Amino acid sequence: MIDDIRETKECQLKDPMDLFHSGQVVKICAPMVRYSKLAFRTLVRKYSCDLCYTPMIVAADFVRSAKARDSEFTTNKGDHPLIVQFAAKEAQVLCDAARIICPFADGIDLNCGCPQRWAMSEGYGACLINKPELVKDMVRHVRSQIDNPKFSVSIKIRIHEDLKRTVDLCQKAEAAGVSWITVHGRSIEERHQPVHYDAIKIIKQSMSIPIVANGDIKSLKDAENVHHLTEADGKIKHTLFSKYTYQWTAVAAFLYGEVGVILVLCLPFISPLRWQKIFMFPLWSKMAVFWNKMFLTIIVLLIVLFLDAVREVRKYSSVHVNEKAANVNSSAFDHIQMKLFRSQRNLYLSGFSLFLWLVLRRTVTLLTQLAKEMASHAALETQVNDATEAAKKYMAENERLQEALSGKGDSKKKESTDATEEKLKEEVERLKAELQKTSNAFHKAKTEVAAFKKQSEGLRREYEQLMKEFEQLQQSLNKAEDKKDL
Ligand SMILES: Cc1cc2nc3c(=O)[nH]c(=O)nc-3n(C[C@H](O)[C@H](O)[C@H](O)COP(=O)(O)O)c2cc1C
Repeated sequence: MIDDIRETKECQLKDPMDLFHSGQVVKICAPMVRYSKLAFRTLVRKYSCDLCYTPMIVAADFVRSAKARDSEFTTNKGDHPLIVQFAAKEAQVLCDAARIICPFADGIDLNCGCPQRWAMSEGYGACLINKPELVKDMVRHVRSQIDNPKFSVSIKIRIHEDLKRTVDLCQKAEAAGVSWITVHGRSIEERHQPVHYDAIKIIKQSMSIPIVANGDIKSLKDAENVHHLTEADGKIKHTLFSKYTYQWTAVAAFLYGEVGVILVLCLPFISPLRWQKIFMFPLWSKMAVFWNKMFLTIIVLLIVLFLDAVREVRKYSSVHVNEKAANVNSSAFDHIQMKLFRSQRNLYLSGFSLFLWLVLRRTVTLLTQLAKEMASHAALETQVNDATEAAKKYMAENERLQEALSGKGDSKKKESTDATEEKLKEEVERLKAELQKTSNAFHKAKTEVAAFKKQSEGLRREYEQLMKEFEQLQQSLNKAEDKKDL
């Protein structure tokens, strides 16, 4: 520490209040145990950090032990403006620590925000927000005992559930001469919950000293956004009222989509069978593979968003906080009401989306089942009609047979049957006579054929005889010619 002190004494100390009066957003590196040491501070200053804090140092140890001073605090001439943060619970101890550090730093800060159990049980840190008189006393003591008017005395606090108590604490500190107040916008119990920038805004509007917003600021853009949010006047109302974040815009669009699809599914002139045909499109069968996974993913997403909205509604519907806020500042009260309205809107959006998603799935399932039932009903109806036709036919046939068997029938029918019989008999007689004639003719023809056969047999024999004679003659003729030639 000694070497660094020698260097530091040569450098010009700076008035941190100049930064707040510059009209620019002051970029501050928050105190962080184990991190915000000299090396880290040197680094962040290179990236246009305006003001640095040391990690929290227990004032009593710092005052008592040179060893503690050496290990807890180092600095150099470039390390300005620098605020040394102390944990203290007694005004005089804090004054002593401030007097020791005064030549090497630009101000001290009293830690009233550390929620760690060890600190709280020792009476340090966030438990001080419940002891405004002690805080006031400590600030006043340091102010009165440090000669340098440019040496700043600030405090870093967390907020109360009852915001009026925080405003009361800040006003007491202001009255005691505190230079500025850093507000970490969370309560002692909160760790990673959203920061209550609205509360910081209320505090800011109730004070005339600079208020530094802290919590969830991870980039320069965040710093600018928080600056706008916490310092905004009445105009911000409109922006917040109409503002949907991306995920809620998506949920709203999804909800409108669901309503549209359900309306189309309910159109009376599109029958379930037609829907069944539409559901049978190849596109759906391809999608069906992912359908169950997609359905469950959307359910999970909507449940998460719904629970988030429930949490927000519970947070902002705390009547206790609202009443206190209303007492402090009516525009801030409106701001909280706006947040409540937005969280309720989100609750309805996610709730209805979830409900309609389940309804949609059920409707599609029921339509498909109904279409199947209708198809099988139509097939059954055709079968029944066919069976009825067949039964009618068989019954008619059966009746006719029964009539024939029981000999019923009118006399006309009988007469016609007798006449037919008579005719048939005559026909038979005629056919018999014709048959006799034909057989006689056949017999005759047969006899004639036999005679022809005999005749042709005789002719054949004569012909063969003639052929033999002809051959003999031919041979003798040949012999006679041969002799002649010789
Ligand atoms: C590692 C770490 C150490 C911290 N040490 C201190 C500290 O010594 N003094 C202090 O007032 N706040 C300390 N804080 C709190 C921060 O200064 C700051 O208030 C807090 O990180 C803001 O919330 P955020 O982390 O959500 O942005 C520490 C925070 C972290 C993460």
